Amino acid sequence: MEWTREERYRPYDQHSALELLKLQAQANNSEYQLRYHIRPTSGLLNDPNGFSYFNGEWNVFYQSFPFGATHGLKSWMRMVSKDLVHWENRGLAVAPDTKFESHGAYSGSAHVVGDQLFLMYTGNHRTADWTRIPYQVGAWLDQNGEVKKLKQPLIEQPAFASEHFRDPQLFEVNEKYYAVIGVQRQSDERGEMVLYQADQVTGPWQFVGPINTGIDDLGYMVECPNLVMVDGVPTLIFCPQGLVKDEVAYQNIYPNLVLQGESFDFTSATLQKPCKLQNLDAGFDVYASQAFNAPDGTAYLISWVGLPDLTYPTDRENWANCLSQVKVLHQKNGQLYQSPVPAMKSLRGKSQIIDGQVAAVSDHAGQQIEVEVTIEPNQQGTLWLAADQALKRGLQVKFDTQNGKLILDRSLTDEPTAVEYGSTREINLPVNEAVKLRIFLDHSLVEIFVNDGAQVMTGRYFTRQSDQVVAFDQPTQVHGSLWQLNKM
Ligand code: FRU
Repeated sequence: MEWTREERYRPYDQHSALELLKLQAQANNSEYQLRYHIRPTSGLLNDPNGFSYFNGEWNVFYQSFPFGATHGLKSWMRMVSKDLVHWENRGLAVAPDTKFESHGAYSGSAHVVGDQLFLMYTGNHRTADWTRIPYQVGAWLDQNGEVKKLKQPLIEQPAFASEHFRDPQLFEVNEKYYAVIGVQRQSDERGEMVLYQADQVTGPWQFVGPINTGIDDLGYMVECPNLVMVDGVPTLIFCPQGLVKDEVAYQNIYPNLVLQGESFDFTSATLQKPCKLQNLDAGFDVYASQAFNAPDGTAYLISWVGLPDLTYPTDRENWANCLSQVKVLHQKNGQLYQSPVPAMKSLRGKSQIIDGQVAAVSDHAGQQIEVEVTIEPNQQGTLWLAADQALKRGLQVKFDTQNGKLILDRSLTDEPTAVEYGSTREINLPVNEAVKLRIFLDHSLVEIFVNDGAQVMTGRYFTRQSDQVVAFDQPTQVHGSLWQLNKM
């Protein structure tokens, strides 16, 4: 379906409740629908926003266009959880209903201030001649879930910024507030991250400077920047658009990257002694990830699984995208590790042991499963997931523990997507060592944690068969388990 501008920006109150109910039913009945990840009740979901711990609950919001699978007038939907796994939908939280956000309540973050949650995000305004004016705006969310917006923006478009100035990430260090914001410079249309500072969260906000990452050129725009501490290591997570591939090799249309350093100097906005720039996720669709430090200092991460400017098969069912599971971040041997939160194990139901020289693992496994396997050294082959009995169609995990390679291949799924960006993603493993994989399938989403989260491969896949198997293409020396997972 083609959307006109008018249709995409029609005010929410001009849509009927019946229209929304129909869209919700359509999404819910989709064979591709996720059952234990955050997904849109209807329409399109994109970036996670406002990931925080407030009033005894984890909060995450998401960018939403509830009326179809298109990037229309955006709002924030709110989800809350006690364990970062079972999420409850609290509905529309930030509606695009002020002048500053007339064309979308865009991405932003949240931080607890006093007994309220302060939301800092981008108001996207367009003038009658369709000129975009970005505002960084603020709102208070109280313990009853009421949202009160500030009357004035926190930060207006500065002279150095083009119309692309958005996605503030708010945090606090030594009783001072900071915001990292993505920007395209006006002067040369190149992207960067900038740092602002305030003594009061409601302002005034002062410009500190562009963040010095040691990288000369970050492409034409940086979206969704984050700065978090991972076991004391300053970690920048961001999405540079149009980045040249000699900075870091990537295959997705836009990468979501991570850059760690030795320390971060807040007066000069400098990441000291930056390490190697890396992909956050080695799979297909992770973007706009948001991380934050919980009250105990632990860093948590959640991502949009979907990419801008791509279409997905569920578009025809008028819904699109999902969020990843939440990951806990740690630093081990000088490296970032991402692992499932402990409560993910509470989803486990019926189990089955995988042990020995194994080929067929499980018939009728379905697509709502977790597979944890250690594949011994010297093994080469393919682990088929969500496959047909003949192992002709499905998702393939090709492993070679002798030469240290792992390939996620979605070319033989029923509806391969974004094929112009390649249907395989490959990572290196330690040579001649066993590999441990923890794989989650949720109907159309795969998440693979490699060697306890040293690397992660996430992707959407679209297979239709109702009768699905998990199998090795040949006998493989392996041990582990398979679980059916409950709905959240
Ligand atoms: C990233 C992004 C953000 C923006 C939001 C709008 O996916 O483009 O830069 O704030 O989505 O929905």
